Amino acid sequence: MARTGLSLSVVVGAVAVAFAVVRLQHQPAQQQPLGVGIDVDVDVDVEEAAQTFCYQGIRTDALSPDPGVDCFTLSLAEGTFTRVFDSSSEADTPKRRPGYVLPGIWDGHGHLLGYGEFLHSADLFGSGSVDEIRARLKAYFDVNPDVGTSENWARGFGWDQMALGQMPTAADDALLFSNTTWATKQDMLEADDRLKGRFLMLDRVDVHCTWVSQAILDLLPSDLPDVPGGEIIRTPGMGVFCDNAMDIVLAHWPKPNAARKKTFVKSAMKELHKVGLVGMHDAGVFPDDLKLYDELSRTDDDWTLRVYAMMECKERNTFCPDDAVRISHDGSMLSVRGVKLFADGALGSWGSAMILPYSDKPSTSGSLLVNASTLTSLTKSWSAAGFQVNIHAIGDLANRLALDAMAAAFASLCPDSSPAECQAARRFRIEHAQIIHPDDQKRMHEMGVIPSIQPTHATSDMAYAQLRLGAERTRTEAYRMRSVLDLSPVLGSDFPVEPPNPFQGIYAAVARRSPHTGAGPPGAEGGWHKEEAIGLWEALDGFTKGAARGAFLEGRAGIIRKGAFADWVVLDDELDAVGEEGLRGLKVRETWVGGKMVYSRDG
Ligand SMILES: *[C@@H]1O[C@H](CO)[C@@H](O)[C@H](O)[C@H]1NC(C)=O
Ligand SMILES: *[C@@H]1O[C@H](CO)[C@@H](O)[C@H](O)[C@H]1NC(C)=O
Ligand SMILES: [Zn+2]
Repeated sequence: MARTGLSLSVVVGAVAVAFAVVRLQHQPAQQQPLGVGIDVDVDVDVEEAAQTFCYQGIRTDALSPDPGVDCFTLSLAEGTFTRVFDSSSEADTPKRRPGYVLPGIWDGHGHLLGYGEFLHSADLFGSGSVDEIRARLKAYFDVNPDVGTSENWARGFGWDQMALGQMPTAADDALLFSNTTWATKQDMLEADDRLKGRFLMLDRVDVHCTWVSQAILDLLPSDLPDVPGGEIIRTPGMGVFCDNAMDIVLAHWPKPNAARKKTFVKSAMKELHKVGLVGMHDAGVFPDDLKLYDELSRTDDDWTLRVYAMMECKERNTFCPDDAVRISHDGSMLSVRGVKLFADGALGSWGSAMILPYSDKPSTSGSLLVNASTLTSLTKSWSAAGFQVNIHAIGDLANRLALDAMAAAFASLCPDSSPAECQAARRFRIEHAQIIHPDDQKRMHEMGVIPSIQPTHATSDMAYAQLRLGAERTRTEAYRMRSVLDLSPVLGSDFPVEPPNPFQGIYAAVARRSPHTGAGPPGAEGGWHKEEAIGLWEALDGFTKGAARGAFLEGRAGIIRKGAFADWVVLDDELDAVGEEGLRGLKVRETWVGGKMVYSRDG
C-alpha cells in the first residue's frame, strides 16, 4: 500500500529520546502561540472579549451554506460563534483576511494514541522488501539508539506481506538474518551490530497482525496453542500474530507510561491540525487512557483537538460497567458516550467474516471475533447502560450480525417505537461497514444505522478487493458510499492505518482513485466503481456535519453558525476551485479551534 502522501515533521523539545522520522521531507514544526498574532485584521472588543474575523469567503455549511457570508464574531470566553454575517450590510468591519473558510473538519474514525505512537515509531508503510524494512529500521535506530530494549520495545507500523511476497518471520525480522537471500554480507554485519537482540514489535499495515523479533519470541512459551478469533502464523516460520493472537504478545509488552502517552497525544494533535482537523472520533480507548485524556483535556494547553472517544474495555468485547467512563465537558474538548465492539478482522489478511467463502481462498470465510449471541448481549447491555454502540464490522457476515445485534437492542430499549425512532436517539454506528449484503443494506436503511466509512480504505483495498470477493460481491456489496449517502455517513481515515489528511479522503470519495497515485486499479484507472462515488460537498459533509451527528454534536461542530464551536479551516482557494486533482496535494492555510489558531502554514 502506497503511503507517499503523508509527511511527518520533527517535534523539537524536551523529549529527547525516541522521536523518529525515518523518511520524507523534514519540515520544522510550526510552533504557533495560541490566539496570538491576529491583531492586524481583527476587531477586538476588550470588554466583550469578542473578535470579528472577515475572510475572502466563508462557507458556513458543506451542503447548505448561507450565501454571502464573509465575517463572523466569536466569544473568546465561550469559544463559540456569536454572529455570522455578510459585511456588505455593515458600515465598519475589519479588513478581510486572505483565504476561504470551511467549517472545522473532523475525522470520524481514527486512533489518537496509535497515531502519536506511529509518529514516534519506525515507519514501514510502502516498504517493498525486507531489505527496505531493515534499512528503515536502521535509520530509525540511528535516531533512537536507546529504543528496542526489554523495557522499551521498538515499534514500527505499515509492513504488508503482499509487498514482501510472504509472511515475514522472527528469523527474517531484519535482526537475525540467518538467511542471506535478502541481504548482502556487508549489510548483515551491520544489521547484526545494530539490530541483533533488539525487542521489536512491528504492526502490519492494517494493525491486525504484529511481527515480533526473536527476543520477544523468546519470552513466549515455545509450544503455543491456537487462539480462537486469532491466528499464529507458523509458516514459513514463527513471528507473526494476528487478531486475538496478538494478545499473547501484548501481555508481555511494557506499555508506554503516562508521560510518553502525553508526548504521543501532543505530537498527534499538532500533525492533525496541519491537515485541517479540529476534532476526531477516537475509535476505541481503554478506561485508563480515558482518565489520562480527561486530565489532559482539562489541564493541558497542548490539548488543542476536540476528541469524541469510544470506550473499549481492557478485555476486548466485554461488558465492563465498573470501568466505564462517560465524560461530557462544556467546552467539549473531550466527550465520551460510546463504546467500541469488534465483530471481525481485516480483509487484507482474510480475517473479515464473510457469509460465503473468499473467492481467492475458498477454504475460509474469515472469522468472527465474537459469536452472534455474545455480540447481541453486549449490544443490549451497553445500550441499556446508556452507551452509543459502535461495532467494527468489515465482512458481510460481521455487518449482518452487527445489524442483528442492534435490532435486538432496539427491541428491548424501545418496545413501543420503531427501530428507526430508537436509532434516532441512540445513533448506533457500524465502523468501516465495508462489505454489506444487499439485504442488509436494506435493513441498514430501514433502521437508520450510521455507516462510519473511510473512503481511503476503498482506494487502498481496490487493488485486491475483487480477488478476495469476486466480481459479483464487489459490485453489489463492497465499499458503498453513494448507496448509503442518505444515512448521513460519518467519514474518516482510520489513522494511523491511513494518512489523516481529510482532503485525501474527500478525493478518494469523489474520484474513487488513489490519492497517492491519482489512478484507479488496472482496468479501472479512471475510478473504481464510480457509481459509488459521491460529490465534493457531500464528502465534506461527511467530514463535518456527518461526523458531528455521529458524535451527538450536531449544531455545535462541523458548521459555522451562532452558538457553534468557533472552529474553522482556511484554504487558499474555494474547495470547488482547486479541481479534483488539486485535492490530492491541497495544503491548509490555517486551522482554528475554539477561536484560537492551532496551525498556520506561514508560521
Ligand atoms: C532461507 O533459506 C532457506 C534454505 O536454507 C530457503 O528455503 C528459504 O526460502 C530462505 N528464506 C528466505 C526468506 O529467503
Ligand atoms: C458464544 O461465546 C460465548 C463466550 O465465548 C460462549 O459462552 C457461548 O457458549 C457461545 N455461544 C454459542 C451459541 O456458541
Ligand atoms: Zn480503527
